[in-house]
Amino acid sequence: MQTRLALALVALLCLCSTVSLAVDRNNFKKCDQSSFCARNRNLEPGNSHFTVVSSSVAFKDGQLTADILNTRDNVVLTLQVSGIANSIFRVKVNEKAPRKPRYEVKDVLLELRETPLEQDAAAAQGANVITIRQGKHAAVLTLAPFRLDVVTDDRVIVTLNGRGLMNFEHLRDRTENEQAGAWEETFKTWTDSKPNGPESIGLDISFPGVKHVFGIPEHASPTALKPTKGDGISSDPYRLFNLDVFEYELDNPMALYGSIPFMVAHAATHSTGVFWMNAAETWIDVSNAQGPVGQDATGTLGRLANLVKSGLKSDSSEPRVDTHWISEAGIIDLFILTGPRVPSIFRQYSQLTGVPALPPMFSIAYHQCRWNYNDEDDVANVDAGFDANDIPYDVLWLDIEHTDGKKYLTWDAKKFPDSKRMQDRLASKGHKMVTIVDPHIKREANYWVHSEAEEQGLYVKKADGTSDYEGWCWPGSSSWIDFLRPSNRNWWSDLFSEDRYVGSTKNLFIWNDMNEPSVFNGPEITITKDAIHHGGWENRHVHNQYGFYQQMATADGLSRRTGYTERPFVLTRAFFAGSQRYGAIWTGDNTATWDHLIYSTKMLLTMNLAGLPFAGADVGGFFGNPDAELLTRWYQVGAFQPFFRGHAHIDTKRREPWLFGEAVMTNIRTAIRARYSFLPYWYTLFHNAAVKGMPIMRPLWMEYPSDESTFAMDDQFLVGRDILVKPVTSAGATTVNVYFPGDQPWYNVETGTRHSAPATQTIPAPLERLPVFQRGGSIVPRKMRVRRSTALMTADPFTLYVALDQSKSASGTLYLDDGHSFSYTEGAYLFRQFTFANQVLTSTAGVTGGVASRPDLHKTSEWVERVVVYGYRSQPTSVTFQEGKEAPRSLNFVFDAALSQLTIKKPGVNIAHDWTITIA
Ligand code: NOJ
Repeated sequence: MQTRLALALVALLCLCSTVSLAVDRNNFKKCDQSSFCARNRNLEPGNSHFTVVSSSVAFKDGQLTADILNTRDNVVLTLQVSGIANSIFRVKVNEKAPRKPRYEVKDVLLELRETPLEQDAAAAQGANVITIRQGKHAAVLTLAPFRLDVVTDDRVIVTLNGRGLMNFEHLRDRTENEQAGAWEETFKTWTDSKPNGPESIGLDISFPGVKHVFGIPEHASPTALKPTKGDGISSDPYRLFNLDVFEYELDNPMALYGSIPFMVAHAATHSTGVFWMNAAETWIDVSNAQGPVGQDATGTLGRLANLVKSGLKSDSSEPRVDTHWISEAGIIDLFILTGPRVPSIFRQYSQLTGVPALPPMFSIAYHQCRWNYNDEDDVANVDAGFDANDIPYDVLWLDIEHTDGKKYLTWDAKKFPDSKRMQDRLASKGHKMVTIVDPHIKREANYWVHSEAEEQGLYVKKADGTSDYEGWCWPGSSSWIDFLRPSNRNWWSDLFSEDRYVGSTKNLFIWNDMNEPSVFNGPEITITKDAIHHGGWENRHVHNQYGFYQQMATADGLSRRTGYTERPFVLTRAFFAGSQRYGAIWTGDNTATWDHLIYSTKMLLTMNLAGLPFAGADVGGFFGNPDAELLTRWYQVGAFQPFFRGHAHIDTKRREPWLFGEAVMTNIRTAIRARYSFLPYWYTLFHNAAVKGMPIMRPLWMEYPSDESTFAMDDQFLVGRDILVKPVTSAGATTVNVYFPGDQPWYNVETGTRHSAPATQTIPAPLERLPVFQRGGSIVPRKMRVRRSTALMTADPFTLYVALDQSKSASGTLYLDDGHSFSYTEGAYLFRQFTFANQVLTSTAGVTGGVASRPDLHKTSEWVERVVVYGYRSQPTSVTFQEGKEAPRSLNFVFDAALSQLTIKKPGVNIAHDWTITIA
């Protein structure tokens, strides 16, 4: 009875909150309500009490180790500075003799290749400074007070503890006096028992020479991070603590669903990255400053300059960004990525935390979701709606209502009596299905997942370490699988085999939601920090990794059910550094407003800069009802964002594309079809991400790194290098201002119109289409035939769009494989290189990363149907095709002088072959 009452209460709360207009800030802590944040944030700069003990400095096996003394309490820390291949420095600080081990993040780093550092002999004699080098990069360690400057190309790019805000709260006895909140802390009605007392860490990290920093998702904030401190600015720091924030607000540093403590600093001269590997609640202040950083600016930097003896580039008018990182627990484990160029930052970051997994082709196409498709008939009707209107889609999704009472891995027998038949029917037209599987397990006696979990002790424990943690989520009373224990993950992975997940097929993929984890009756809507995970670690230590581990186990389960032959697809809401290895994320519960559409671009650019490119936002907005114009504009933008899914809250009106009349449907269909036509280009970009870690959706500065006008620009973006997208984000807009970067022309992909660069131009933006442009100098492969799913496109021909630069040349690549298996890891793929120069278009086998291509293992019937050349200015007399030693043959062509566009018809050659087309 009590249970029912409580359930009704939760239901009522959920219902009421759906009609509220904005986030309830009272549910979430501000920095000053979190004692460790306040303690660290209130530290005065310029006063560091950490000193490296000079007699302890040792240099062994290419690593520097030393003791750092906290001169206030005489606690000794250890410092370790090591080199990782490709110009990365790792700086680790821990307690030398902690009362018990402090948590160190596990399972995020790949196996690292260390590079021995070299000690600069001359510098070693200096009284207070030691220089160690990795190639042309130096780490300059100042002993008293402790400070570390990383120097590259004669400039300091990163300074640690230059402002003296470092803090390291040692584990202690309760008898040591401490400030309020250190041993117990109450927020609203919850009291956190804090068994270890204060254990926070903090460090200031400055980036001399830059004005802009990026990254540290997830926040609904501009891509170039706004300062949180400094001249007249008073905001909370950016918070990283995975939380389910109902109706989140925009332009706000509040925590959201996921956390990636990776920041990129960029200036025209160089790019730098820092990865703060810590999974506890973290706050980051950002402020703008000027000149050299220093507790004694002339002194320390002056000495550095002398020691490095190359005259460091730094002057008092130079900009600087200061950041201050504060984590509740764990250790300081910081990676400094020296860049110095944009691509090297992403190579370095992916070398640490992994490249994104290559997704199956279907998953980068269009997904249709809502909370909820009600039953098998509903599913069949929606599927039929796409067919009837000739709109391609690949995946239909089922939210929580498809289950028997929110018991995941079960089906509501009335609504879904034959789920296999339903999936088979979809699959017959190449469609897949996704069902939701959350990490909270209903505590119901006869629910098999719960019975096993309870019997085998798989749940996260309460603070006592022995009884199962219980809380409320969709099913009512629930417990949470402890994904930190490897054997629990193994058990979880097995759940996805077809005999365990009854009613599933190999065409069913998984959505992990609510995995921050969301606990309706928990502090800040999440699990208590003193709950215990595997190894005795409190949630406090590992919180931000919880969803990461769930997605890891789910993705493994999907691969495992096919004997690791088929690629998995798992969407997760919570994430951490490294989540890119396991699938996609989305930005959670956004709202159907123009502002949310605007912020989807900002947030997804940030996700891409943080190494997790397979990211999307609910198209149309989750809460509320978009009008036809907003929905259309959202589809147009979504079609150019990496993860493309329409989704909506259960209380919203249905919004399948055909429900708004013919004209609206036609525009949405055009947008979705555009996505399908660009899939060869998208897939090549996903491949590129999977071998080089390169973002897919890119801010302009990534490709135009010295064009300062682009550094804070987040209202237009690039897909890869070659496609420029300008979202239309206001009601009634008929034109937009587009900035064309670089010094080569851009061509409208619909009309072929040419635009010179660099320039800002006003461009027509009729509701029928989005302004999208192809870069002059690029060749983009597309598939122009309209199909119902990617599965039906596998044999379709390509059209090559050749956009000429001013020297009348262009180049591009195409990656292709079977789109679903792992055989590409054995070389079963093709990588084609296209070049246009001196009137000749050439197709040859190109070289890409990963295992060498074995074209014999990937046979395809795909062929080249058409070549369109943008920027071709004179009427050709002939166009000739030649393959190998075969006799040349003439091709038909059409020349449009007004548009400077040449269309070459039917080369008709297999995409795997080498050939040339010569225009005379
Ligand atoms: C919250 C998710 O963010 C949303 O997408 C989903 O529809 C609901 N949970 C119900 O599962």
